Amino acid sequence: MGTGTLEKSEAAEVDYRVAVTFRIRRFNPEVSAEATWQDFELRIDPKERVLDALHQIKWEIDGTLTFRRSCAHGICGSDAMRINGKNRLACKTLIKDIAEIKNGVGSKAIVVEPIKGMTVQKDLVVDMEPFFQAYRDVMPFLITTGNEPTRERRQSPEDRARFDDTTKCILCAACTSSCPVFWSDGQYFGPAAIVNAHRFIFDSRDEGGEERLEILNDRDGVWRCRTVFNCTDACPRGIEVTKAIQEVKQALITRRF
Ligand code: SF4
Ligand code: FES
Repeated sequence: MGTGTLEKSEAAEVDYRVAVTFRIRRFNPEVSAEATWQDFELRIDPKERVLDALHQIKWEIDGTLTFRRSCAHGICGSDAMRINGKNRLACKTLIKDIAEIKNGVGSKAIVVEPIKGMTVQKDLVVDMEPFFQAYRDVMPFLITTGNEPTRERRQSPEDRARFDDTTKCILCAACTSSCPVFWSDGQYFGPAAIVNAHRFIFDSRDEGGEERLEILNDRDGVWRCRTVFNCTDACPRGIEVTKAIQEVKQALITRRF
């Protein structure tokens, strides 16, 4: 055994973990009609993410903790939750960025709760069906008439750039569930559905724009937006959500898109 091996094993013993309290909103309709707060004291590396902390709780402390996640890398959109009062993806939120760590201890509890405006089913899991229904309602697919072309549908880089931002949506619902209009009336289509309508309305290959605009001209449609910008602030993909909504409103007035 050389010195190199000894150095390696010494390095492996360095403990980078800090003490952090996670305060999680718990709800189990089979146990109680009321939600409660529960604290979990963890020792965790602050370079880990909130999702890693939730895994640690579920796998080592309380297997009943319920939350959604799939990819763990900011792609599937399934783990949007309210963390310290702001909608974020748990898999993209580093503990060191929110724990206010001093002398190896998080000075404030990290508060985790479900996104707002949707019915909570259990703990951090909400009913996403109304959200996806609004998404389906705007027909988020290419609509064309005539025979199928025998070659690909060509598009200039400028035409593609027109809707590039709104192609990035991962349907996490962080925007819609941060919108005060949606909180007050869940019938509002919400920012995410409008973003996904925008993605096709401004696609030069699509022929369903007029139909989508009429859907969004509805009383629960785009005019309900009060330009609060919560949606843009919440979007983990950096999409200019409010701008997209404004462009759809403009298209409704001018009928040019
Ligand atoms: S626009 Fe952004 S916040 Fe809204 S659903 Fe899409 S990715 Fe999530
Ligand atoms: S788990 Fe897929 S986006 Fe976070």
